Amino acid sequence: MSKTIAVIPGDGIGPEIMTATLRVLDALDCGLSYDFVDAGMVALEKHGDLLPKATLDRIAEHKVALKGPLTTPIGGGFTSVNVTLRRHFDLYANVRPAVSFPGTRSRYENIDIITVRENTEGAYRSEGQTLSEDGEIAESVARNTRKGSSRIVRYAFELAVKKGRKKVTAVHKANILKTSSGLFLNVAREIAREYPQIEFNEMIVDNTCMQLVMNPYQFDVIVTTNLFGDILSDLCAGLVGGLGLAPGDNIGEGAAIFEAVHGSAPDIAGKGIANPCALLLAAADMLDHLDMVAKGDRLRQAIRDTMTNDRDSVTPDLGGKGSTSSFADAIVKRLAA
Ligand code: NAI
Ligand code: MG
Repeated sequence: MSKTIAVIPGDGIGPEIMTATLRVLDALDCGLSYDFVDAGMVALEKHGDLLPKATLDRIAEHKVALKGPLTTPIGGGFTSVNVTLRRHFDLYANVRPAVSFPGTRSRYENIDIITVRENTEGAYRSEGQTLSEDGEIAESVARNTRKGSSRIVRYAFELAVKKGRKKVTAVHKANILKTSSGLFLNVAREIAREYPQIEFNEMIVDNTCMQLVMNPYQFDVIVTTNLFGDILSDLCAGLVGGLGLAPGDNIGEGAAIFEAVHGSAPDIAGKGIANPCALLLAAADMLDHLDMVAKGDRLRQAIRDTMTNDRDSVTPDLGGKGSTSSFADAIVKRLAA
């Protein structure tokens, strides 16, 4: 089988970690071809546009993209390319697995939590943000819809079924945000009834933060609205040792974009020491999405084995003495073994 994906190398460390990731993907023999497209600072310099139409068209054509981090220039009124991509393709599900890996500075072992965050509505709609003319009153209107809540909750349950997970927790603040969070919670309760084989529980968001820190093992799949999901998924990344190992999948009906959660890391760009694992794990999720689950699992296992046994080759953020390319080399070697 041959499948072409759109590849956005990205800014800062993006091209370094993308080169490493594609080398590892090639070693996995997935039959993928790459259509390189421009976005971010590169695109701004080349085409005068952070997100050229040709890039959108080619992502639409291939339906799947692997994306490096993009720098959003501060000032000049630029909208984040990431936000624009999510909106353009209606990528309503932001799926963020937090899985423990060996040799990190995490306080816990064997964490395995997937956060499913609604990615298009809630408190993050730009239309809901207003400031009065005198600058005295700021409003941010959260807007959740039945349709938006249904599709994200359903996505979480379907994911749980597909991945053999046992439990879905709906996180909300319906006690205070009676309408917006209340609608989400009611929809979650309704849809949960359709999945009797999956345990369902509900938890208020502030308590969830405490519970995640005190006893993260009680969580399996978390489904929640946009703002809470943004915060909780970073909290979960912290439980497994930080953003260097956190992939983020943005899924819609017509397209899916897989990326690392971290940014373009300008402080280490060009030094060859960026950890490629978050993007590699995003690539593994992409393989799952393309029905190459065995390959995705093989990649995750190779990363795990490398982190356990080849400590010298891993990047400095994980305590190693290696580089982006020595890390990738070690993973490629494990795949070949
Ligand atoms: P950042 O995630 O780029 O960096 C935060 C810290 O983590 C830095 O010290 C960096 O060196 C380190 N770091 C990040 N990724 C790493 C890796 N793979 N290996 C080793 N260390 C790593 O966040 P920051 O500095 O807030 O943002 C920089 C730029 O990235 C901004 O322009 C921001 O808009 C953009 N950004 C883009 C994202 C995306 O495209 N999805 C997400 C987050 C930020
Ligand atoms: Mg965030």
